Amino acid sequence: MASKLSAAFRALAFGLVALFAASSLPALAQQPTSVNPTAQSVKEEQLLQALKPGAPVAGRISIPDKQAANLIQPGRDWRAFNQETLPRLGAYSLIGIAILLAVFYMMRGKIRIDSGLSGMKILRFGALDRFTHWLTATSFIVLAITGINVTFGKIVLAPVMGPEAFAAWAGFAKLVHNYVGFAFMAGVLLTFLIWVKDNIPSAVDVQWFAAGGGLIGKGHPPAKRFNGGQKIIFWSVVVGGFLLSLSGWHLLFPTAESIEHVQWQATLHGTTSFVMIAIIIAHIYIGSVGMEGAFDAMGSGEVDLNWAKEHHSLWVEDVMKGKRPAGHAAPQPAE
Ligand code: HEM
Repeated sequence: MASKLSAAFRALAFGLVALFAASSLPALAQQPTSVNPTAQSVKEEQLLQALKPGAPVAGRISIPDKQAANLIQPGRDWRAFNQETLPRLGAYSLIGIAILLAVFYMMRGKIRIDSGLSGMKILRFGALDRFTHWLTATSFIVLAITGINVTFGKIVLAPVMGPEAFAAWAGFAKLVHNYVGFAFMAGVLLTFLIWVKDNIPSAVDVQWFAAGGGLIGKGHPPAKRFNGGQKIIFWSVVVGGFLLSLSGWHLLFPTAESIEHVQWQATLHGTTSFVMIAIIIAHIYIGSVGMEGAFDAMGSGEVDLNWAKEHHSLWVEDVMKGKRPAGHAAPQPAE
């Protein structure tokens, strides 16, 4: 009796399975056959190409964080920029400025004080000027080194250092970059505040450029406290520094932004950095080995009188006549 019952159950179960299989066959046959996800020929790239370029691959979610619905974030264009275009732009700007300076040095040599050293000194930059300059300069150099590491470190350093040492260095460099950014922002703000009045473009600058700025050709065109070339450096630092600070701030605190917004800020940050690094390398060259007597202005703060007369004749006249103080002194403590 029991064996008859179990045989009947087995027959019933078999019948149900057969019925289910038969009813689902037409449905399976109706599935689209153009993409077979298990086929060897279906590559991730093919699937991505089929989507709108740059669009996220998104699903549906019921939690408040809408970003979490994106299985693949938008930004293949940005990735290509970051991994190919930016390193190329960076390499061109660094190699380009090095070649330009080498050619300039070969043609012009070190710019000498034509009338020789006078032995007399004139205060060019007071303590506040120099503090501001070195705050901006040291923070910029640290940021440039730790920032370049993001673009070139993996290509240049990682193969030499090995993956573990590079990972440790890159983590440290990122931390330093994040914090030193605030010192740079303060430096740029101070630079703007203390020097803006001497950096308003004027007709004197046009004459200065027309005469080759004393860098090309002979003679020294007249200049006030800052000449036309220095005004370009000043405005590059102020405008470039502002853009770097703004985009850097968004990268440090991205919580409320969309992913496209953050990518746009990163593009602005990277591009501005390389343009500024090239400009500043030229500035460092002229302010140190490229011109006799220039470094003293930011070293001791005092320059040789003949240097000042050659490069900033109108400024020297104003200081001599007592029309203006030479530099910004440090604030004096209250008596
Ligand atoms: C080791 C690196 C550097 C050296 C040796 C150097 C040297 C100098 C010197 C000598 C001056 C005064 C020129 C004069 O008497 O008129 C100067 C001015 C200035 N420096 Fe630097 N500098 C360096 C790095 C930087 C950096 C990294 C920045 C900004 C990111 C910067 C921004 C400026 C600005 C805005 C001025 C005033 C405008 C001008 O003179 O071009 N410097 N620097």
